[in-house]
Parts: sequence; C-alpha cells; structure tokens
Amino acid sequence: MSQDLPSQAVASAVPDPRRRTRSYPDAGEVARLLQPSYPVYCLRPHVFERTARAFVEAFPGTALYAVKCNPHPAVLRALHAGGVHAFDTASLGEIARVAETFDAAECFFMHPVKPRPAIASAHRVYGVRAYVVDHIDELRKLAQQVRHDPEVTVFVRLKTVESAGAFYHLSAKFGAEDAAAAEMLAEVAHLGMKPGLAFHVGSQCLEPEAYATALEQVGAVAARAGVALSAVDVGGGFPAVYLGTQAPEIGDYMAAIRRGLDRLQLPESCRVLSEPGRALVADGQSVLVQVLLRKGSQLYINDGVYGSLSEMTAASVRYPVRLIRVEKGQVITSTAPEEIFDAHGPTCDSLDMIPKAFRLPADIREGDWIEIDRVGAYSNALATDFNGFRPDTFVEVRNEPPGGL
Ligand SMILES: Cc1ncc(COP(=O)(O)O)c(C=O)c1O
Repeated sequence: MSQDLPSQAVASAVPDPRRRTRSYPDAGEVARLLQPSYPVYCLRPHVFERTARAFVEAFPGTALYAVKCNPHPAVLRALHAGGVHAFDTASLGEIARVAETFDAAECFFMHPVKPRPAIASAHRVYGVRAYVVDHIDELRKLAQQVRHDPEVTVFVRLKTVESAGAFYHLSAKFGAEDAAAAEMLAEVAHLGMKPGLAFHVGSQCLEPEAYATALEQVGAVAARAGVALSAVDVGGGFPAVYLGTQAPEIGDYMAAIRRGLDRLQLPESCRVLSEPGRALVADGQSVLVQVLLRKGSQLYINDGVYGSLSEMTAASVRYPVRLIRVEKGQVITSTAPEEIFDAHGPTCDSLDMIPKAFRLPADIREGDWIEIDRVGAYSNALATDFNGFRPDTFVEVRNEPPGGL
C-alpha cells in the first residue's frame, strides 16, 4: 500500500499488477488530503486510453506499446483498454509483467542481445513468437533456442540514418548495416523462420520523413536478400509535445509511413508493426513534488535527475508546471507574477541540479507543491534508489492534464 502513506513513511516495492490505484479528482486534492512529502505520480487512465485509441486508429498496422517507457500496470491496463493488445518487451521481466497483467497479450522480444535462458523461457514458458537480432551470432543463438520454430518471426534490425531532431539516436548501439542485414534476412528464411525487418529512427523524432526514408531502406535490403517479408516494424520515436517543442502532428508521421509502405508493395500477408512508447504515455501522467527549501531562485524539491526528471538534463526537456498551495485545508492558487527557477533534486549529488527548470509564481515557498505535467514517458521507468529517494507512489486522477493537450 504505497499511495496513501503518511508523509513520513517510506514507499514500498514493485506495484502489484492486479491492484487498483486510489483515485482522486485532481492533484490539488492529492496534495490537500495526503500532504505528501514524497513525490506522487498522478496517472490519468482516461488520457492514456484516449491517446492509445487515436494512435491505434491512425496507424496502418498493429501498434505494440514499448513497455520500457512506463511499465506501471495501471498504464498497461489503460493502453489495453484503448486498443493496444501487443507489447514490445526487452527482457523476461517485462514479458512476465505483461503476462501477469493480461490473460492474453502478444509479446515481442525486441532486444537485439538476449541471454540464452531468456530466449528459451520466452519461447517455452510465455509463448513468444517474435524476436529481433542485429548480428549473425545472435541469429544462430536464437535459432538454437527456439529450435528453428517455423512460427517464429525474426526481425533483423537495421541501422538507419539518424534523424536530426531526435533526442536519442538508437542506431548508435544497435542495428546492422544493409549488406549484413540482407545476409541475415536470407539466413532467417534458410533456417526455416519468418523474415522481418525493423528499425528505430530515434526517440522524439521530429521529422516524419525519417520513417519514409527508413522504409525505402527496408525495400532495398529485402530486395538485396531476395526475400518476401513476413513483417515490417517501424519502431518507436513518435514525439510528445513538451514546452518549446515544435512537434509535427501525429497524422504527418502516419502519412509518411503510409507513403513508405505503398512504395514497398508488401505481400498481403506481411504484418506491419510499430513500437510507440513516449507518444502513447507522456501526456497521461504528472508528478506532484514538494518544495523543501527555497534559496532565492533555487528550489530544493523532493524529486530530481535520479528520480523522475532525468530527461530534463539528458535531453533538456521542459514540462508544463503549476503551483499547488494548501492553506487552512483549502487548495489555493497564487496570483504572483511568474519567474524562472532552478530545481535541485533531493540527492546529495551536485549533478542533481536542473538549471532554469520551471516558470512558477514568484512567491513560491517551502511546503508548496508543484504539479509537473507530461512526465508519463521515461520518468518512473528511469527512477533510481540513489540516496534512498526512489519515487514510488502512484494514484489516479480524473481531471484533464493541467498542461493542456
Ligand atoms: C527497440 C525500441 N522500440 C521502441 C522504443 C520506444 O521508443 P519511443 O519511446 O521513442 O517511442 C525504444 C526506446 O528506447 C526502443 O529501444
């Protein structure tokens, strides 16, 4: 029971996938009723569900949710309610979590480097029938572990040209060059499994055309291998809208993907997949943090770079925020003019500092809360235990996100 602990208590471990989180009207009520001195994640299942439904309806194929982005069971359940019934998983732990949350959900094991026992368990225990590789030795390892199961689709992950706008370039670590990819693709077919191609244009990709370009590469590699593709996976990378982000509309991405697919003239039976993470979950979650001390324009708060806010330094993300003050049992708003504040996280480490983090009313003071919006992606998923400060309390709220959409 972590969501309604008294403020002195220490939050607990991994959430039980079947447990329901407590629901409040909004984050103001969370502050008023719980008076939390620890960060509280405010999940908005209706927003996750709505976003998922819009993506699923627009994408010309099957959308797999990238579990790594936010694996909380309430998030998975809301996405599932919005029509996402298949999942991009990168570890046996994620596969187990999906299996424990849903009676029937399809998992794709999309980490290009996997331990042998993890492949064996995924295949035999969890019935996983799709895997990715980017090296011939991994392909051989996989073929041995799944015993050349003809039901298995093996995606060869391509190294794509990096999209200039992306936060993280995911081809730096994984992906095969075209010639090697074509050889592997032919080998997948030769080994008796189903050949597929996958790529990832980079997280928070701001160029829809990157997908069309990568699909052209898919066509060239498949032609070079002389193989009819069983599946094409366009990966993740679809952006969220943060402060100062000029992100194209999601429809522009879908149009670029449709254009790229049309040119490929794929066989009717070929499955088209995507692996969105950030775009599905960024908007559906805020985090309520408290000001512990103010030194001029520096706010010492109870969450930071080692907790939910690592993307504020790693990728210069800036989130919409609002001040929540509770006085005499009432939530009140400040009318003071706004100023820019630096944020300092709770750990003793001086990397845990975020310059120019928030624009907030100038009279903000110790004990006030800040609702930081759009932190659904890569926040709780990346939070650490460093200094004993891992944020671990989740509630549901029913209002619309304060940052708007
Ligand atoms: C293989 C793979 N698929 C999907 C994703 C999700 O990407 P995004 O959150 O940018 O949509 C990632 C992110 O790291 C990834 O590595």
